[in-house]
Parts: sequence; C-alpha cells; structure tokens
Amino acid sequence: MDSLTITQPDDCHLHVRTGSVLKSVIAHTARQFGRAIIMPNLKPPVTTVEQALAYKQEILSALPADSTFKPLMTLYLTGNTSVAEVEKVAACDAVHAFKLYPAGATTHSEQGVADIKSIYPLLASMEELGVPLLVHGEVTDQASDIFDREKIFIETILSAVTQKFPCLRIVLEHLTTLEAVQFVEAANANVAATITPQHLLFNRNRILAGGIRPHFYCLPILKREQHRLALLAAATSGNPKFFLGTDSAPHLTELKENSCGCAGCYTAYAAMELYAEIFAQADALDKLEGFASFFGADFYGLPRNTAKLILKKQPWTVPVHYGEPGQYITPLLAGETLRWQAASA
Ligand code: DOR
Ligand code: ZN
Repeated sequence: MDSLTITQPDDCHLHVRTGSVLKSVIAHTARQFGRAIIMPNLKPPVTTVEQALAYKQEILSALPADSTFKPLMTLYLTGNTSVAEVEKVAACDAVHAFKLYPAGATTHSEQGVADIKSIYPLLASMEELGVPLLVHGEVTDQASDIFDREKIFIETILSAVTQKFPCLRIVLEHLTTLEAVQFVEAANANVAATITPQHLLFNRNRILAGGIRPHFYCLPILKREQHRLALLAAATSGNPKFFLGTDSAPHLTELKENSCGCAGCYTAYAAMELYAEIFAQADALDKLEGFASFFGADFYGLPRNTAKLILKKQPWTVPVHYGEPGQYITPLLAGETLRWQAASA
C-alpha cells in the first residue's frame, strides 16, 4: 500500500511548552492532528482551571492563522490540589483530565504527588464526577532499577488504585513494558493506555549504540526488545484500550546534548509519519486509524474528527534541527530518511 487516507487523528499525550519553544513546535502538531491532550508540567505547573484557560489561550495564539487545531487542557495534581478544583474541572469543557506525576519521576515533576494515599479523596471525587486520571507510571525510589520502575509502580501503586476506585477512568501514559500491556488488558474498561512512537520503534540498545545517544533518552526509558514487541502487538491489535499519545517532549538541543541531558524525544514534527512507518512494518496499516483517530476520542467522550489525513509513501530527509537560531530543537531521527509523508486531504 502506497497511500492511506484516515480520519484526522488526535494526539492524546503532548508537551508543547510555552514562549518561543511553543511557537516552534505547535504548527507541527496542528498540521496532522485535530486535537491534543496537553500536558501541564510547565514551570510552574498548570494546577488550576484558571491557569489552564490562560495556557490554552497562549497555545491558540501561537497557531497558524488558518488552523482549526484544538488543545485539550489538563491539570497537574499536587499535594495541595483541592476537591473544589476537581469539581471545577468536571464543570469546565476546556479541561479534560488531571495528570499524576509521582514527585521526582520526570521533567518538572518536583511538585508532583509524594504519597498516593494523600490524594485518595481527590481520586474519589474524580471517580464520582467522571474526570479522567492520567498517570506517569513509575516509582521514584532511586534505589529501584530504572528499567523496573514502571513494573514496580503497577504492582505497588496502580493495582491498589484500580481496586479502590474501579469506576475511575485512568490512562496509563506512555507504556513501556510487557507487564504494563498485560495490566491494561486485564483491567476493566475504565483503564486505557497511550503508546509513543519511540517505544514502538526502538529498544534500549538505541540509547547506547556506539556512544551515548541523548535524543533517544526519554522517561520512562526504552526497555528490552521483548517489551517493544509487546507494545507493538498491543498498538496493532485493534484493542480500543490502546491509543496514540506521542509524548513529544521538546527540549533545546543544548539541554539534550549535555552532561546531564533532559528526558524527552521530539517527535511532533512527523508523528503520523513515524506511526505509519511502524504500522506498515508490522503489516497492520489497517489498524492505524482506530489507534490514531478513534479510540482516544472515544475514551475521552469526544466526537471523532471529520477531516481526513492522507499518508503517502514518499521518502524525505528529516532536518537536523527545527526552531530558531540559538534555540534549536533536534528531532528524533534527525538527518535520517522517513518513508511516509502526511498531508491533509
Ligand atoms: O521523557 C519525558 N519527557 N518523559 C516525561 O514524562 C516528561 C517529558 C518532558 O516533559 O520533557
Ligand atoms: Zn509526557
């Protein structure tokens, strides 16, 4: 198959930042996606509906003039989040979920939640009001092996949450392990998951291929090949619990190529091209539309998009950087050839 037309997709997990970085990246997402669930881990984090509405305006102002792209906002859970804020979110059409960052798990997570039990009253309220909980699923105990942190989080924290709050709608974000796939498959219909392009394309060898490759470093970190294969099987299975979330996470090149490089892969520039590559390689292009365009919208109770996106087999070379001089962002697979190109229909 050399060309594929699908319903316009949604990115159910996206970082766009603010200021000049936002201006450099947002058009890349808007070119392909109808909507995106916007992560709230700014500095300082987006913790109130008021802040989310202001951030939404900043995103809308950074869009190309003719764009119809819609940012779907989220709030960052802290130890200080109140039940009143959960009620505000439930009543606000612009804010779609809360994001749980265990404190210290990843970029700008310092103000996240240190003790999951401390937010049980909030989870009870979210369960009652139908507000989804989006989860960065890694324990933060620095003594646990970094490759085991997702598995341990599921065993010690998430299992208890799903048992105590069976009607809470949960998205376990950016799955990286076989154990996470199995957990989501076995859980009830309120539990779903996103899968990134990098975790479908690469295993952990890619971070250390002939030297340290900082652009392949993200959190949760890439895992062994057996885990990549489990994610690929889940993404191409047609199971509506698994849907597209790029976790595209721009950082300036100098902060990635650094003695303490930031976590995050910049994939928004070619998100659908990367997923097309993955699904084509797996001989599962017929499953791409469900994964990219239907299952996420259905989970969030949003109408499916009506516009179309065309993916064509047409090789092109990824630029070595995007963004402004002095503010460059290196895309994942910079300088390499991608086989697919996306265009609106
Ligand atoms: O690699 C990551 N980058 N993982 C996250 O959880 C956060 C993200 C970011 O914001 O840079
Ligand atoms: Zn993320």
